[in-house]
Amino acid sequence: MTLKKTAPCSTSALFVILVTGITLSLTLDPRPASPQNLQLRAHSDTDGLALTPPMGWYPWNAFGEAPQTEKLIKEIVDALVTSGLKDAGYAYVGPDEGICFSRGPDGKLTSNLARYPSGLRGLGDYIHGKGLKYALYTDAGSKTCSTAMPGTKGYEFEDMRAFADWRADYIKIDWCNSEGQDIVKTYSLLGEAQRAAGRPVVHSLCSWGEGYPWKWAGAIGHMWRTTTDVCAPGQADWARAVRIAFANEKLAPFAGPGRWNDPDMMVVGMPGLSEAQGRSIFSFWCMMASPLIAGNDLRDMTRSTIDILTNLEAVAIDQDPLGAQGHVVWDDGDVSLWAGKPLFDGSRAALMFFHGKSKARLRIAWDEVGFAAADELYVRNLWTHETTGPHAGGVDVTVGGSDAAFLRISKTKDFPIPPILVADTYLVSLRAAGSRPEKLTGTVTITNKGSSDLPPWRVDPKSLPPWLSVAVTGGGKTQTFVNTVATAGLKKGAYHALVRADNVEPISGRPMSALYYDVDLEVVRNVMR
Ligand code: GLA
Repeated sequence: MTLKKTAPCSTSALFVILVTGITLSLTLDPRPASPQNLQLRAHSDTDGLALTPPMGWYPWNAFGEAPQTEKLIKEIVDALVTSGLKDAGYAYVGPDEGICFSRGPDGKLTSNLARYPSGLRGLGDYIHGKGLKYALYTDAGSKTCSTAMPGTKGYEFEDMRAFADWRADYIKIDWCNSEGQDIVKTYSLLGEAQRAAGRPVVHSLCSWGEGYPWKWAGAIGHMWRTTTDVCAPGQADWARAVRIAFANEKLAPFAGPGRWNDPDMMVVGMPGLSEAQGRSIFSFWCMMASPLIAGNDLRDMTRSTIDILTNLEAVAIDQDPLGAQGHVVWDDGDVSLWAGKPLFDGSRAALMFFHGKSKARLRIAWDEVGFAAADELYVRNLWTHETTGPHAGGVDVTVGGSDAAFLRISKTKDFPIPPILVADTYLVSLRAAGSRPEKLTGTVTITNKGSSDLPPWRVDPKSLPPWLSVAVTGGGKTQTFVNTVATAGLKKGAYHALVRADNVEPISGRPMSALYYDVDLEVVRNVMR
């Protein structure tokens, strides 16, 4: 994939374009107004998680209830890194119905060591060591959907504690076997239990639209399924995926930073889908600011599947910091035009989808996609990576059968990519063997794969234990957290800190993102003062 090099924006430029984007969205956005009575306070206001839609991989589409094992998940994790998906922003990964835990006689969850010999904490450490985030799965009822694993009903606080001990960063919570339970009360209790467990996680609610979660779930978690499953395991279902996209787009007003409509995992790269259909699905999901959770077998991908999933120019639309969800402007049953997605630099995304078989040629007029009719605009084709223009009044677009033209439209020729953050590791492990005081350091490096700069990271020193200090070095695209441990006076034992770093736009105070990583310290002997 060739990614057009764009001039990097300075911090203040990022602020200006954010403000410009917000102003433009207020004046020209054709989206319907925000729904009344929506609880506007998002849960992410406190934890800073999922301010852009979560990206990752999840096993259900490819593997269903087929036995999952630590070996399989590690192979997927390795493929996620080597295929380039990690560098495109995919981070959350882990098992689901992999029969990975059971409930012991004491009521506590225990890892299935036959399938996961390192235990679920060991698997989490492996994932964190690769600079990825750990995703786990459970159910709000008495059992998970396959009935093979226990659900959280009656054990909400104990189970969320177990997930925190395994160091999960993302928990998908299904809604099977929940007869008689009040959905809002149940998920609220689970949210409370997660907070009590002390480890912030992306809370992914999965009631398939039951209980209208878009109305209330943003105050509890970060994303909620809006529809039924996108396919049966093993085989993509094109017609169902398109139906789901058209159902999910109607919920656009409910989405925003930290609160996302989830139309389910993607089917890109699964058997039963053509290349054009894969492109269309990816365009839909990016246009709808959906969580980008790949569902295909990452160990076995064609070049075209990798190119679709790692198209950073398309990912940039999904990961745009304004977090607007695009929607259908008009649909004649054959061709549909999607817009309503203002972007952080004042540009806008548009998508033309052709449901038919041969070819459609149509003109997109500027006033249909949120610009003024008289504007002269540049058009970036996000699949061919070509820029044309300036075009007066609109642009002519040709699109093939089951295919989508995915465009970014702007008053300038630059199409900056917002920050896409990739870590070298999320786990620092240090060992102090001597009885004399020493200073040990371990680093976490974060690289921004976008073309726009990020303001400096801040770690609140008051949030750290006395034995740990953190300094942030570097600048531009790469910043390193230098973690220094001072062992003076520490007793023999194991120490742990979860470090939170915040990236705050310096003038507006608007949070850009928060990241968390673990620091483990093993002290082998009592250390002198
Ligand atoms: C439900 C969910 C799926 C998957 C399975 C696991 O069907 O919607 O995404 O998690 O349960 O059993």
